[in-house]
Amino acid sequence: MANGGLFKRFKPVIIFLIIINKVVPVKLNKFFLILFRNTPTWIGKLIRYILLKNICKKMGDNVVIFDGVIFDAPEMMEFGDSISINPRCYLAGEISIGNNVAVAHSSAFHSFNHSWKDPLKPIAKNPLYSKRITINDDVWIGCHSIVLSGVCIGSRSVIAAGSVVNRSVDKHTLVGGNPAKILKYI
Ligand SMILES: CC(C)(COP(=O)(O)OP(=O)(O)OC[C@H]1O[C@@H](n2cnc3c(N)ncnc32)[C@H](O)[C@@H]1OP(=O)(O)O)[C@@H](O)C(=O)NCCC(=O)NCCS
Repeated sequence: MANGGLFKRFKPVIIFLIIINKVVPVKLNKFFLILFRNTPTWIGKLIRYILLKNICKKMGDNVVIFDGVIFDAPEMMEFGDSISINPRCYLAGEISIGNNVAVAHSSAFHSFNHSWKDPLKPIAKNPLYSKRITINDDVWIGCHSIVLSGVCIGSRSVIAAGSVVNRSVDKHTLVGGNPAKILKYI
């Protein structure tokens, strides 16, 4: 699971394991995903891939989830091919990631926000609403970045380390800072 070659070589075995795992209810697979969140080496990556394949709306080939990645509502997520999500990332809610995307460690994606319309309830008890985050093909997200609700990142763009991305990003663009601004076109 570390690279595309290894994935291709073992694809028949991986497909076999995915088919066996299909009998497990999604709720239980989500519990297993928490249980195996920190399992190291290729074993952890393989287990998480199989579980997510049967949980997510869409899961492509060669999606590598490193240890310590937290998924909130993974059943709402869509993944393309050749994606790496590095250690300690946090993904919540409606998220679509295209092909050839690298997310460096400790980055976060939040498609949920709390509303604060009902003044009689604390904000944390007001309903959540969600806007899908879309990451197009060939994007590199630098470490410790935060991508917020409703953001769309265009293809072949780079998010510099430590960015807070609250607005959509055009294709072929390097953005950085808080809030993320255009640094240059690439
Ligand atoms: C963006 C990055 C790749 C540098 O790219 P680069 O093309 O060499 O860009 P430069 O260093 O020439 O910087 C261009 C401008 O962006 C700014 N910039 C670079 N990184 C920035 C960041 N993280 N936040 C805010 N601004 C940043 C620079 O200060 C410079 O601004 P200036 O023109 O006003 O001086 C690098 O800074 C970065 O963030 N790397 C991510 C590292 C990472 O997460 N690695 C994980 C392992 S995969």
